[in-house]
Amino acid sequence: MGTLIRNGTLVTALDTVRGDVLCDGGQIAAVGQGLDPTGHEIVDASDQLVFPGGVDPHVHMALPFMGTVSLDDYETGGAAGLAGGTTTFIDFVIPGRQDDAMDTLRAWREKSKVATCDYTYHMAVTCWRDESEEWLRRCVQEEGITSIKVFMAYRGAIGVEDPELIRAMATAAKYGAVVTVHAEHGDMVVELQNRFFEAGQIAPKYHALSRPSPVEGEATHRALMIAAQTGARAYIVHMTCRESVQALAEARERGQICWGETCPQYLLLDDSVYDRPDFEGASYVMSPPIRPRGHQDVLWNALTAGILQAVGTDHITFSHEQKKNGARDFRIIPNGAGGIQDRLSLLWHHGVRGGRFDAQRFVDLVSTRPAKIFDLYPRKGSLLPGADADVVVWDPEGTRTISAKTHFHRNDRSIYEGFEVKGIPTVVIAGGRIAYREGDLRAERGRGRFLARRVA
Ligand code: URP
Ligand code: ZN
Ligand code: ZN
Repeated sequence: MGTLIRNGTLVTALDTVRGDVLCDGGQIAAVGQGLDPTGHEIVDASDQLVFPGGVDPHVHMALPFMGTVSLDDYETGGAAGLAGGTTTFIDFVIPGRQDDAMDTLRAWREKSKVATCDYTYHMAVTCWRDESEEWLRRCVQEEGITSIKVFMAYRGAIGVEDPELIRAMATAAKYGAVVTVHAEHGDMVVELQNRFFEAGQIAPKYHALSRPSPVEGEATHRALMIAAQTGARAYIVHMTCRESVQALAEARERGQICWGETCPQYLLLDDSVYDRPDFEGASYVMSPPIRPRGHQDVLWNALTAGILQAVGTDHITFSHEQKKNGARDFRIIPNGAGGIQDRLSLLWHHGVRGGRFDAQRFVDLVSTRPAKIFDLYPRKGSLLPGADADVVVWDPEGTRTISAKTHFHRNDRSIYEGFEVKGIPTVVIAGGRIAYREGDLRAERGRGRFLARRVA
């Protein structure tokens, strides 16, 4: 027996048509009008939209980071994603500078066994040593990991220096891997952090002040220059500001193959969040930080204009207690926030309902384009027969008030607390199975699969 989604408005990145989708054997078996319902479970999608499951290209699950481990793991993080319409995520395998990347990969495969939704990895390069080229070759050619990650920030921990960045990019280019980049000028951040801290300025807002937008803009420009000179295809993660958008736009205008991602928090929040009393500003401590007013419109316009191609979340959850590690030193507040459950609704509400772009562009940003950039398409990000049966039935009029009291994230804060959104999933099908239906989350531990990829 399959599942037949009937009478929906099917939205893909390319077109919008009325029709049915038959999911059978874990795949999309047929798409058309008036498909035969005999023997199938029926999902009535009248007055609803039907689109491919979301692909979140940027999450961190159970990540050992800044002296602690992030709360959501492959089970809870995946489940929260399913509840929000995301059926696939891409996590980052991050070896310590001294670690063997293949050992770290094995550890990641182990912790991924509880996954509730499908996933794949980006492999981080956190230093460059004799074995690094062979590790990258194995990742791309044997392990099905066709994207790498470099951090230009986090000096002294996972961040790389320019010569390492150059080697990583050149090697990625050789094997055809995409290079994802956290772009901030690491040394400048350290200098500014220490300047504030030594002046007794220890509160969360100094996190933001020590990472001003030119620090991101310069690093974005440099990363794109190095990518161009080495022939690498670069994807700049979590872009937040005018300066970095400008660097990306200029590179694209020059004909460089490169892409940019932003996240809902950078579109919807401004830096006043850091003034919240009782250390609540710590919930918003992430890198790069939330920007002053003005940058948000630049990001929205870049999504509208096609300068940015994807919206991820950078989902990484810490409790308030964990954030309090940095109560007397903003430099050691664990960086990051959650959002995997909220991404589609926030982008629908503020992007589509807000008149920034249409439903097809929405599907492209949250699903199809990340799937294409990271070699998952058409298995993911499409409604084509033969694709994985990851399908979202979406009520454009349904509402939700986002709250830490009700979200499926594991942490005790939501950076979107009280946000009301119109546009919610009613049914989410993952691998042909109904994983979420009208508030009822039926995620199954261990059902998620690793997606091995091949360079397109
Ligand atoms: O603050 C952030 N973004 N934390 C997660 C690690 C990263 O830089 O993506
Ligand atoms: Zn980052
Ligand atoms: Zn991240």
